[in-house]
Order: sequence, then C-alpha cells, then structure tokens
Amino acid sequence: MARKFFVGGNFKMNGTKESIKAIVKNLNEAQLDPNVEVVIAPPALYLQLAVDSLTKEGVAVSAQNVYDKPNGAFTGEISVSQLKDSGVHWTILGHSERRTLLGESDEFVASKSKYAIDNGISVIWCCGESLQEREAGQTIAVIEKQLAALAAKLTPEDWKSVVIAYEPIWAIGTGKVATVEQAQEVHEAIRKWLAANVNQTVADETRILYGGSVNAKNCKDLAKQQDIDGFLVGGASLKPEFVDIINSNQ
Ligand code: G3P
Repeated sequence: MARKFFVGGNFKMNGTKESIKAIVKNLNEAQLDPNVEVVIAPPALYLQLAVDSLTKEGVAVSAQNVYDKPNGAFTGEISVSQLKDSGVHWTILGHSERRTLLGESDEFVASKSKYAIDNGISVIWCCGESLQEREAGQTIAVIEKQLAALAAKLTPEDWKSVVIAYEPIWAIGTGKVATVEQAQEVHEAIRKWLAANVNQTVADETRILYGGSVNAKNCKDLAKQQDIDGFLVGGASLKPEFVDIINSNQ
C-alpha cells in the first residue's frame, strides 16, 4: 500500500512575523521531494501571513487547534469557518500539550475532530503515552483508549481526512527520540487496531506520523520503517534542517 509521505511542522507557541516569513521563504526556495505532503502550523496569529507568503506547491498551512462549535460566544477560540476564510484546511488536534496542560479529554478531542472533518478541515490527530505509562507497560492500552474515543465519532469515510501522529510524550522536546523499534512497534499496533476496529482499507490508507525529537540525523532511519509514514516535527521545523526531514524518504 503506497501511502503518500507526510511531514508536518508544529511551530507551537513560537515565532514572530519576521521568523515565520523567513521559514516560509526557505520552503518556497527549497528543493522539496514532490512525493511528500507538507503542512506548517504556525501560531494562529500568523496563519494568514503563512497562507499569503507560501508559494510552494505541496505545502499547506495548518492550525494548531480549532473549536467544535460554529462562530459565537466562545472567547479565545477559533472556528472552522474562520480557518477556511483564511485559506487554512488543516488543523492539529489532541496534541499532548493541550491534553496535559489544558485538560483536553479524549472525548473533547474526538468531538473537535469530527466537527472539523464534517466542516471540511482535515485533522492531524495526536496520541501518545507518558514515560510513567510506558514504564508501566501501558503504552498500547493508552493509545487504544485514545483511538477508541476518536473512532466512536468517525464514519469509515471520515478517516480519509485524518492523519494520525504518534508522539510519545517522553520524546517531545527532550532530545530523547524513540528508537526505530519503539516507534515501529506502536505504529504497527495502531494500524492493527484500525484494521480490527474500523476496516482494512482505513488501516492500509491512514498515514501514521512519528513525532518527538525528530531531526535531520534520526529521520532517515525512522522513515525506513514500514508503518512510519512521516513526521510531526516541533523544534526542528523552525530550523533549515526541516527541509532535510521533508526529504528524508528519498
Ligand atoms: O507536534 C510535534 C511536537 O510535539 C514534537 O516536538 O520538538 O520534540 O520535535 P519536538
């Protein structure tokens, strides 16, 4: 099954107008593998700037979050219609930083995912375990619980608008990247879960990204793994090496 390689850059709460323009300029001018789908997710304030500055084919802009209600009295939130109004058709949802720091539940993330998909926004849906959960041997159970909450809301057709990002919390921002064996083991388990609980087509077609301290040095070995279809990159997406990560599947 040929799944198109996918690389996302999650800028998190980083950047200025100047730095975002510089990153976009670098991508516009870079030689990028045409067989890779790329999205960059700047902070919400800079989404329009990124959309207006990007000229590179195959590179799109993503939000880092979106709400699950139409426009209205939801102070501080962003709506799907406002994303589309700005030319944004992707969003990250369920990032561990929002699940842990802002208390987003599996069900809330699932509700936001379904609402986004129903309204024409594709979703990079994040999952992952803590170090404590891994050391307790609960990794797969934690991820299957997260997956079950999402699958309960989605139709099989909806999965066409989903890219999964497995991001072990203990690898995010720590420099402690998962080994290729650790990453492949979880990606394979996610794909098997999809086959058993949704259907084989969804299992075969859904891209599963790895995220957590990916950089230009470790990306090639990870990209060789059968069930790793790309990356969701944090810190390294703010640096020129992001181009090397995009081209890591060549
Ligand atoms: O969403 C991607 C992010 O959580 C990974 O961060 O800095 O470890 O690449 P980083």
